[in-house]
Amino acid sequence: MIRTKFKPVLFMSALMALSPAAFALDGAELYKTKTCLTCHGKDGKTTIMPSYPKIAGQNEAYALQQMKDIKSGARANGMSAAMKGIMHLVTDEEMEALAKYLSTLQP
Ligand code: HEC
Repeated sequence: MIRTKFKPVLFMSALMALSPAAFALDGAELYKTKTCLTCHGKDGKTTIMPSYPKIAGQNEAYALQQMKDIKSGARANGMSAAMKGIMHLVTDEEMEALAKYLSTLQP
């Protein structure tokens, strides 16, 4: 299981302390379980590659649309391929929760 790589308990308790609302908790959980943090960083801004986008504090509607477009292939530049590989694991409802969560992070 991928969870074992990331000290999930410590990570979750840190996020829960910061997240006031239920939807944010859900998005925080998804951000970890869907492996977003491996590329974008656990804070959404410490990216694994300098060229990967910081997404902490991103506008919710924009982030949601980008995720949908990367999943569908509508957004398909050179770097989108890296993320597209995992997007079959993420539903529309999960993308909504993730976009909400990202918008609550400190940019
Ligand atoms: C394998 C690495 C990788 C993973 C895993 C990954 N991403 Fe990405 N993500 C990227 C890259 C690279 C881009 C930039 C794509 C491009 O240039 O079109 C990106 C773009 C984005 C964007 C658009 C940013 C912008 O400013 O337009 C959002 C939002 C996003 N990712 C959220 C997520 C979420 C949420 C997850 C987990 C479900 C996730 N990503 C998983 C690598 C990844």
